[in-house]
Amino acid sequence: MKLTLPYNSKMNSTDFIYGVATASFQIEGGIEQRLPCIWDTFCSLENTIVDGSNGDVACDHYHKWPQDIEMIESLGVDAYRLSISWGRVVNEDGSINATGIAFYIALLDKLIEKNIKSFVTLYHWDLPQHLEDKGGWLNRETAYEFQKYTEIVIKAFGNRVHSYATLNEPFCSAYLGYEIGIHAPGIKGKEFGKKAAHHLLLAHGLAMQSLKKLSPNTLNGIVLNFSPSYPASQNPADIAATQFADDYFNQWYIKPIFDAQYPEILSQLPLSQQPDIIAGDMDIIAESVDFLGINYYTRAIYQADENEIFAQITLKDVPLTDMGWEIYPSGFSDLLISLNAKYTLPPIYITENGAAMPDSIKDGKVEDAHRVAYYQSHLNAVNTAIESGVDIRGYFAWSLMDNFEWAEGYLKRFGIVYVDYQSQERTIKASGYAYRDLIHQRNSNYLSNS
Ligand code: BGC
Repeated sequence: MKLTLPYNSKMNSTDFIYGVATASFQIEGGIEQRLPCIWDTFCSLENTIVDGSNGDVACDHYHKWPQDIEMIESLGVDAYRLSISWGRVVNEDGSINATGIAFYIALLDKLIEKNIKSFVTLYHWDLPQHLEDKGGWLNRETAYEFQKYTEIVIKAFGNRVHSYATLNEPFCSAYLGYEIGIHAPGIKGKEFGKKAAHHLLLAHGLAMQSLKKLSPNTLNGIVLNFSPSYPASQNPADIAATQFADDYFNQWYIKPIFDAQYPEILSQLPLSQQPDIIAGDMDIIAESVDFLGINYYTRAIYQADENEIFAQITLKDVPLTDMGWEIYPSGFSDLLISLNAKYTLPPIYITENGAAMPDSIKDGKVEDAHRVAYYQSHLNAVNTAIESGVDIRGYFAWSLMDNFEWAEGYLKRFGIVYVDYQSQERTIKASGYAYRDLIHQRNSNYLSNS
């Protein structure tokens, strides 16, 4: 099983970064050495996580990180995207947790030694529980707490980091966590989603200001996710419903950053659902970024709905991943091309793309041909966008290894490395080898051209 790209593709240049990505709560475990976070609490509630599991141990990366970094090195990647657990590095009273800082510094130093660039995400959903107890992202103060945490991290990490992303996917934190409640902290109500989103975006802007001041030499930005929206038919009502949904789920998070305003549908929302915007907020949110991280998995299809404005529909007889998500690579190139047309964007990094597949291990091997096919078609889609003029500088596979897939627990496997959760043994899947070989091929093309 192989992954290939056209010989002349910019993705065959050594300037193009290939990486693998993970997130703290999904892999670390090491729960005794950090504060409880909203996901610990959420996992302890009934009927929140499909397999009733939690992140107490996860991939035990907190203890196994040296061997995990060797595994990353063996894949030949240029970069590793990881996230920092807020409650591992800052104590409840705001003081620094030296043990937690030392853990990340050792890891970052190892990456430097191996010549692997670190792409650090400051917030991948694991809000300390004590902050949730004060209102979490519904409390404006949390944005300022995030800025303080950011400053602690930047100062402690010094010049070890290549790139900082403030937030991962504020849409998921706000909508899944505070509007429909299927993610931590499990709050439900239309009046909460956009309020939480505004404070998350404010947190991003404040942290960007600190990054600019204290870490001007790193590549600083944010990671957003998108499910590009398609109408179920060419009926004008379906098209209008789809535009509304796109503004509500996608443009809501990008437009404030690049245009300093929310989509126009803001004024159509009942007052109770509108965010609490204070004068000056939009300028803070629109602080310029060095890069935009884009995560893509699938598309969404909408039709008009009398009660809810729009309703998402699912197609029959289309290829699906193990998450039940449609495999639709042209949605990826459409998305990248349309965002590039709508906004004046900085360089883009694909910070996540990948697929859960029903893997099994036989004779020490995982032959995940479906995942290889997913990667091939989506790498091609990125290439198409680059050829159409989109400035894309890197691609990160989600994920380095199978891990805690949020509300799905350990049942869904996104890794290019298989994890046996009993023994904590890691096995590189066929997709992992194919990714390694693609990067290797890129390197030899480069050598033969220079
Ligand atoms: C998140 C990851 C998650 C992946 C697959 C993204 O929304 O950033 O944490 O595992 O999608 O669901």
